[in-house]
Amino acid sequence: SRTIRLAVIPGDGIGQEVVAEGLKVLRAALPSDVKLETTEYDLGARLYHRTGETLPDAVLEELKGQDAILLGAIGDPSVPSGVLERGLLLKLRFAFDHHINLRPGKLFPGVQSPLAGQPEIDFVVVREGTEGPYVGNGGTLRTGTPQEVATEVSLNTAFGIERVVRDAYRRAQARPRKKLTLVHKNNVLVHAGHLWTRIFEQVGREFPEVTTDYLHVDAATIFFVTQPERFDVIVTDNLFGDILTDLAAAVTGGIGLAASGNINPSGDFPSMFEPVHGSAPDIAGQGKADPTATVLSVAMLLEHLGFAAEAAQVEAAVAADLTERAGARSTSEVGDALAARVSG
Ligand code: IPM
Ligand code: MN
Repeated sequence: SRTIRLAVIPGDGIGQEVVAEGLKVLRAALPSDVKLETTEYDLGARLYHRTGETLPDAVLEELKGQDAILLGAIGDPSVPSGVLERGLLLKLRFAFDHHINLRPGKLFPGVQSPLAGQPEIDFVVVREGTEGPYVGNGGTLRTGTPQEVATEVSLNTAFGIERVVRDAYRRAQARPRKKLTLVHKNNVLVHAGHLWTRIFEQVGREFPEVTTDYLHVDAATIFFVTQPERFDVIVTDNLFGDILTDLAAAVTGGIGLAASGNINPSGDFPSMFEPVHGSAPDIAGQGKADPTATVLSVAMLLEHLGFAAEAAQVEAAVAADLTERAGARSTSEVGDALAARVSG
């Protein structure tokens, strides 16, 4: 029998509530001979206020030995913007080299899209997770003066681009439509853009069956709304991927359904699964948050750990639940319903 060591970081706001439901469904979905060993880490605003720390070194060390991480949400209005984001969430993504930030954009049957005509939407964004403008490369000069200057220099390495692009090609190759779209802004961001474009073409020679396409990010936002069915797999940089995946969530039923995986395919460090949404302090503690995004992230976690059938079962439970949704249910009612479906 197998043991899964799972680190659980509920974090702030609704993170607490949705993670509890995610775990409920995970326990229901795992085969009975698999032992789930969870360790909860109280990270986020509470720890920060108590000790001033965001991610203690000892915790980071402990996390290294886990098989995966389930994270709820990070961020609180009582903490200055950026402190928890950079000091905890991005620190984990960078420390564990989560270079594949996988974010499906799927419109489930029965879910109302704000787009006319309920288009077929089933794509996946492969967002680069460890480079781009997220690296914190920059600074300010002449702070507080009218001559103040701030830079935020995007870092793009051939190594970093190649590995995410190859991963995206592999995913495209494995899907029925075998289509990969590179999204960038290579008409303006020529330095990074040309490197991405060149590597995209080079790696593409290894995948003759994959149809490729290129879109500038601004044009991509139009097509997300007017023709989302044209997308299959999308590969893009860290910041473009952040923005596009919120838009993807909006057109597929909202941020309450959007799942993600921060993946390190080498397995050297644990991958981390989290809903795309934030901590939603305005509705925290009221049992109103939809745990579905977390449950779909649990499905990605199962898939990543090699439980493909169980992952499919969880996704099917969500699909069935979404077609039958009527009236408002609390966070735990949705979790209970999903757990009952996978164990039934
Ligand atoms: C996300 C979030 C994060 C990001 C923030 C909170 C650092 O918006 O996971 O999409 O920008 O990646
Ligand atoms: Mn985001």
